Amino acid sequence: MDDRVRNYTVSIHYDRRLYRQDIAGSIVHVRMLAKQGIIEEDDCQRIVSGLESVCAEIENGSFPWDEGLEDIHMNVESRLAQLIGVETAGRMHTGRSRNDQIALDLRMFVKDAITDTLAGLVRVQGALLELAESHRDTLMPGYTHLQRAQPVLLAHHLLAYFQMLERDKSRFADCRRRTDVLPLGSGALAGVPYPTDREFLARELGFSAISENSMDAVSDRDFIVEYQSAASICMMHLSRFAEELALWTTQEFGFVRLAPDYVTGSSIMPQKRNPDFAELARGKTGRVYGHLVAVLTTMKGLPMTYNRDLQEDKEGLFDTVDTLLATLDVFTGMVSTLEVDVESMGRASSGDHMLATDLADYLVTEQGVPFREAHGVVSRLCDYATANKKGLDELTMAELRTFSPHFGEDVKEITARSSAEARNVYGGTAPAQVRDALERAKGVLAVDPPPNPPPDQGEGE
Ligand code: ARG
Repeated sequence: MDDRVRNYTVSIHYDRRLYRQDIAGSIVHVRMLAKQGIIEEDDCQRIVSGLESVCAEIENGSFPWDEGLEDIHMNVESRLAQLIGVETAGRMHTGRSRNDQIALDLRMFVKDAITDTLAGLVRVQGALLELAESHRDTLMPGYTHLQRAQPVLLAHHLLAYFQMLERDKSRFADCRRRTDVLPLGSGALAGVPYPTDREFLARELGFSAISENSMDAVSDRDFIVEYQSAASICMMHLSRFAEELALWTTQEFGFVRLAPDYVTGSSIMPQKRNPDFAELARGKTGRVYGHLVAVLTTMKGLPMTYNRDLQEDKEGLFDTVDTLLATLDVFTGMVSTLEVDVESMGRASSGDHMLATDLADYLVTEQGVPFREAHGVVSRLCDYATANKKGLDELTMAELRTFSPHFGEDVKEITARSSAEARNVYGGTAPAQVRDALERAKGVLAVDPPPNPPPDQGEGE
């Protein structure tokens, strides 16, 4: 083959990453062939121990990778032939095609990736929960439109991310159910003309289902699309948190300090402590979205069945897994070492017009004023306070009463804390509710790691 043509088709520089899955799949495949009398038991033994040597060589770095051999399947098979002879090695591929082989490798890879992803998510959740636990009483301003809105507990804010990650976990777990389907036995596209035992293959390779249709099995990659969708949503969540950390570390907010490991200095401005890791997490979300669009576009309009376009499914997937797992790791570290400036958060949650809604609620609850009217009163109060450069809490009783005769002395008892305490609804920020929410979150983590991990093949990714 012309070098340029060959270079264009070669995938070994990235699909070598599938060697464990590929070899594990081949070992079970030849065992099945022997069990079914399709190949001799002797040949099976030699192939299996040859494959084990290949695996060892790859792991100790002595494997002679050959770009001329295109992909992982050909590299493994050709080395096997060198080790045990062409004739025996040549029996391995009986009743199989690279089309069902690569579909198998990828499904195994994605299942492993999901296990790691779930574990990573659980670790971030654990860090969030721990931080939330130690800030059961810390007040902070809750925001809408990035304007201070109402006081909330920091624990409540952190548990919001806990919930997002919980849904991410369920998306990955759901994706695993559909990934957990054995494609091997589909052959090139139509099935294989040998008495194979697909149940055996599924059992030994840890799959809970067998593909229903050989053409579908070799040609669809929707499980990769799903993993990357779930990863994109997860990165979107993490990017929101990253954005908040970047904001919170600014002098303007001054809510938190990132541990020295998670900030970098500037080469020119000595005072800088830049939240580079949070920014990178935010930024890397872009490449993960990009990979999702790439694989969707590769799949779009593909006629049945296997087409070489499908080889383009791997690099984006690998990079997605690497990016997501690394981001989850960095978050676990960033969150568990985060230093909170409780006082600064507290100040920000009581000043200004933070308690405006509470004043309106006071007029409604204590004085029976209709909410719309109360809203109008307090809105005018806010304008007045702003014009006079005062916080709402700094207005005198006389000033308050100019706006409504319904204000009584007890209005002065409204604080950021009483405001939070009042939101005593399931899912609200009242300390009692947040305490319950923390308990429920602990319960969620107690049942993790999630059920149904893939069986131990001694080769997690
Ligand atoms: N390297 C190929 C891929 O990743 C493996 C399958 C090749 N099959 C084929 N008929 N050329 O898709």
